[in-house]
Amino acid sequence: MQVISAIEALRKTVRDWHKADLSVGFVPTMGNLHAGHLALLKEAARHCQQVVASIFVNPLQFDEERDLLAYPRTLEADIAQLESMNVDVLFTPTEASLYPHGREALTRVEVAGLGGILEGAARPGHFVGVTTVVTKLFNCVQPDLAVFGEKDFQQLLLIQRLVTDLNMPITLVGLATVREPNGLAMSSRNRRLSVEEREIAPLLYRELQAIRNAVLHENSDYTVLEQAAIERLTCQGFVPEYVAIRDANTLFAINNNTKNRVILAAARLGDTRLIDNLRV
Ligand code: PAJ
Repeated sequence: MQVISAIEALRKTVRDWHKADLSVGFVPTMGNLHAGHLALLKEAARHCQQVVASIFVNPLQFDEERDLLAYPRTLEADIAQLESMNVDVLFTPTEASLYPHGREALTRVEVAGLGGILEGAARPGHFVGVTTVVTKLFNCVQPDLAVFGEKDFQQLLLIQRLVTDLNMPITLVGLATVREPNGLAMSSRNRRLSVEEREIAPLLYRELQAIRNAVLHENSDYTVLEQAAIERLTCQGFVPEYVAIRDANTLFAINNNTKNRVILAAARLGDTRLIDNLRV
């Protein structure tokens, strides 16, 4: 595996692959890799002959400076994990190369509507940071296909919208959430949980499962189900931000045209913010 930081060097490598008619799959990450990230890379390798991973802790998408500073950076260990995978290039751009004019003076990419609800409402500016950096990374890597996790369900929908709206010639693949044996969705932020919090954290997924069961048993009083879940999570020690049963294609309220539903939740546990979701 080659580790490349310079955008021009990356472009040359990818240009050579494309000249040789090799397909290129891409998995963007912020590092601190776990089994969820590795599953995305395996999926990319299943579809494409060449695989690029990127690691960049994108300052633009952090709504809290404290969260940015505390974000785990484990490049050596990440490289060691990637070496054992089918990854051809690890792209590690610097902040100076991606944001040469600083974090403020910069062209931004915004997905209207979908970017402003749920996570977008809870974390102002977050999704503009995500869609801006993903556009830039796509332009650097120029992949044929990119893989994203359903763990960040709204992010996946936003990127799908971005690719369609801006006519990017990239196939997107979404992959199911990889979980710990106790159900907790794997996340780089989990390592911030204390021993006690690790016992409580899996209850978030259990709550999503309980709501799914209720919905499947034709309980369609969604507001009551959402409110009851918020109360139970609070009793268990979470500070819930939202629990929402939504249309899985639009993330807006369920209506007569809804074909698929998804339950999404965000809750704080101590200093850690957890998100999870479950399709019905
Ligand atoms: P990061 O949180 O590092 O996640 C990178 C990718 O891994 C995302 O597509 C995310 O959905 C996926 N992922 C995370 N946990 C997962 C799990 N338990 N199972 C399956 N997939 C999982 O998401 C980002 O970084 C950033 O916003 C990024 C897209 C890189 C832009 O900066």
